[in-house]
Amino acid sequence: MYFDIAPKMNKKDFFNYNREYLGVIEGLKRGERIIAVLGVRRVGKTSLMSVLFHEKKGINIWLDGRMIENPKKDVLTALQEGAKRKENIIIGSISTLNVSIPGIPLPSIGVEIKKPEPSLKDVKNITLFIDEAQRTGKELGDVLSYIYDRYPNVQVILSGSEIGLFEDILRENDPTSSLYGRHILKIRMRRLSPELSKMFLEEGFRQLNIRIDEVEITEVVSELDGLIGWLTYYGYEKAVRGNPRALEATLNFAIPLVAHELAKFLYNKRNRQLYISVLRSAKGLTWEEMMEEIGNVSEGNLGRVLRQLLNYGFLLKEENRYFLADPILRKALGRVNEFLR
Ligand SMILES: Nc1ncnc2c1ncn2[C@@H]1O[C@H](COP(=O)(O)OP(=O)(O)OP(=O)(O)O)[C@@H](O)[C@H]1O
Ligand SMILES: [Mg+2]
Repeated sequence: MYFDIAPKMNKKDFFNYNREYLGVIEGLKRGERIIAVLGVRRVGKTSLMSVLFHEKKGINIWLDGRMIENPKKDVLTALQEGAKRKENIIIGSISTLNVSIPGIPLPSIGVEIKKPEPSLKDVKNITLFIDEAQRTGKELGDVLSYIYDRYPNVQVILSGSEIGLFEDILRENDPTSSLYGRHILKIRMRRLSPELSKMFLEEGFRQLNIRIDEVEITEVVSELDGLIGWLTYYGYEKAVRGNPRALEATLNFAIPLVAHELAKFLYNKRNRQLYISVLRSAKGLTWEEMMEEIGNVSEGNLGRVLRQLLNYGFLLKEENRYFLADPILRKALGRVNEFLR
């Protein structure tokens, strides 16, 4: 069923993104060592990884980047744990929008492990999935290069926002980075087009034998755009919970959530107002147009703010033009102050 809000585990519940799915599978077959699944929030990164995690043969280990306190210790411990148990393990959880498929707590906490046991080398076909990898911290790059060099039997699939992952952690083109020169396969997930968004909703309702008004679908697609996370939430409200005002419920859920995420991000920023102005002006303007629209901002400051917003997945840059990564953000901007107090 498409309208289940937990991250998808089965290919049959996973709409579209076949090219990205096959891209990862072919990469694994070719022996790629590090594969990065990139995209903005709620585009379906965790679901793509979770489908692969549940169907891939061999030993699969899932790590939630938000749970990793000490990358060197935690990642290697998880690998060792997987090699020892010879079965799939989830450390942390596979989660989305506060809905999780629970796993086990990180085994390394309180356990002293010095070096990976040699047995790790003997186990074939281990895949390490690290969701939300950009939350792990810079040391992840060192751990990955260590695994890359030492354990050819381990392949790693990471998810995160494009800039966050590349500029902060992987830095494959930076000679000072430990991953310099090592190949990383990038799989980019983009929003659905309006046609595909419509198709997703129609098929989702069809699966549940529910007829739905064409006018409503058009309105939903124009309000929620092509982010599959919000479309799924809407479908869940409408079809599973039977809520006649499902779009309103989705917006009521999404706007404060996004406002809260933005507030958390802005909390320790000195120039919050500039961040908000930049987000307000992100409607397809170029850098120069933004400078003009915002006024009274130095190039350096605007550059830093833009990078941060791209980094954390609030903005997208396409052909030198800046857009909000999520249409809900525009509505959330008006509510962000409520969460900043
Ligand atoms: N291809 C898909 N088909 C059907 N539903 C999907 C698909 N991708 C994602 N979803 C649904 O959309 C929601 C968000 O998905 P997911 O958590 O995988 O996205 P994400 O990019 O990891 O988001 P976040 O940035 O919040 O971590 C979930 O409810 C999930 O069930
Ligand atoms: Mg996710």
